[in-house]
Amino acid sequence: MQVHVADHPLISHKLTVLRDERTDSPTFRRLADELVTLLAYEATRDVRVEAVDVTTPVAVARGVRLSDPPPLVVPILRAGLGMLEGMQRLLPTAEVGFLGMVRNEETLEAVTYAERLPDDLTGRQCYVLDPMLATGGTLAAAIDFLVQRGADHITAITLLAAPEGIARLESELATIDVPVALVTAGLDEKLNDLGYIVPGLGDAGDRLYG
Ligand code: PRP
Repeated sequence: MQVHVADHPLISHKLTVLRDERTDSPTFRRLADELVTLLAYEATRDVRVEAVDVTTPVAVARGVRLSDPPPLVVPILRAGLGMLEGMQRLLPTAEVGFLGMVRNEETLEAVTYAERLPDDLTGRQCYVLDPMLATGGTLAAAIDFLVQRGADHITAITLLAAPEGIARLESELATIDVPVALVTAGLDEKLNDLGYIVPGLGDAGDRLYG
């Protein structure tokens, strides 16, 4: 798995305010939205395009447009919903599918309670949105849904990731023949005994939606 940790002062600044326990919910939502737009710029570096000609007032120029079918964006409910608008700002024609997943806070295993994805994703590029990659169980299950339906290129965008989660994803993806990339605003130190990212930012879903 290709891992890209954003290295940009604007992203670091916004992530620092996001982490602050004094940051209220409206500000947290706005910052999460802004961060995703910045991360999406990096995450879409490999988005598929095709060549087109465009007629300017002066001459014909070579350009590109997004390939058809468009990419699929998949926010993982609930917290991933806070990243959808920021992603759509850069990819307004993307199709959107939804996965509802919640982590059992005792076993730390991901439970899927909703799934609304296209049945056939053969040859599709997918972008999965979830603010937190902690143990990696949620993202691993989400990637599995997409691979089972035929997706052939997957990029996960997170605000924070833990080394334990990255290691789990790498091990679970070892048998999958689909390129997977991770773009994250920050890579933190570790998980604590409760499975929370340290130093992290707390529970992203609660901070977004109360
Ligand atoms: C959080 C987070 C991820 C998941 C990460 O969601 O948004 O989806 O936990 O944990 P993992 O990497 O250990 O699987 P949560 O289960 O709290 O649900 P929510 O988004 O509805 O708050």
